[in-house]
Amino acid sequence: MIRVELEEAVALVTIDRQEAMNALDVGTLTDLRGRLSELAADESVRVVILTGAGEKAFVAGADIKYMSNLDVEAAKAWGALGHEAGRLLETMPKPTIAAINGFALGGGCELALACDIRYAASTAKLGQPEVNLGIIPGWGGTQRLARVCGLGIARELIFTGRIVGADEALRIGLVNAVHDPVLDKAHETATLLAAKSTVALRTMKELANRALGGDHEENLAAEGKTFGELFSTKDAKEGLAAFVEKREPKFVGH
Ligand code: CAA
Repeated sequence: MIRVELEEAVALVTIDRQEAMNALDVGTLTDLRGRLSELAADESVRVVILTGAGEKAFVAGADIKYMSNLDVEAAKAWGALGHEAGRLLETMPKPTIAAINGFALGGGCELALACDIRYAASTAKLGQPEVNLGIIPGWGGTQRLARVCGLGIARELIFTGRIVGADEALRIGLVNAVHDPVLDKAHETATLLAAKSTVALRTMKELANRALGGDHEENLAAEGKTFGELFSTKDAKEGLAAFVEKREPKFVGH
């Protein structure tokens, strides 16, 4: 099951299927996609944290028992469902933070990769071991791992299926920080981000998502256009005025 707890403007989404190391079956993944879709549209939610229940696992991947009986069409639909959840994390107009509290393997690592920021507990283990099952990462891993860590590291990890610990994950840029308890770090950043201009965050996320794809000149032009347009917002006027007046800004989100 998926638990969603709201605290002020921060939503904590917990994947809870501890009997299977929080591996995602159809019910849990469908539920996750639905909850992420609601949170994407809910303007009172400014930041989303994704974590796993218990101390052992973030998500140990897609449910292998379920996958062992899939035919080609069912496997395509299963891949598409995971892609939808990943795209929601990647494109929802607010920051998403993965708090990796244990194993983040296969589809679990892929969901974390779809988030804007990743923090890991010192006990976390991450990787794409699909090759050991005779399959490939199917929820974004062949693309997003390269975007986060670079193609050289990504190829080694997806080809070998090697699992990395938290310290190596930090060294290769797979996570932004290692911290115990990991949820404290996620909440600290979420609170910081919740106080910032939501319109500026939303716009930066949209532009940052274009950074590694498309045409560089066009992307810079989009940045220039949006940079200018933001000067019509209350938040830009407030943020600039607050600096000049030597006070803290109060952002309204438009
Ligand atoms: N799917 C289904 N069940 C899983 C699971 C998974 N991905 N991962 C763990 N479980 C289940 C185990 O089968 C076991 O259940 P039973 O007691 O009913 O057999 C229970 O969770 C506890 O697991 P273990 O006894 O194996 O615990 P452990 O501490 O010895 O090992 C582990 C933990 C290293 C995470 C190990 O469970 C493991 O290797 N899991 C599989 C990891 C994996 O390969 N993930 C990738 C899946 S493929 C994928 O995700 C495709 C994609 O890109 C979309």
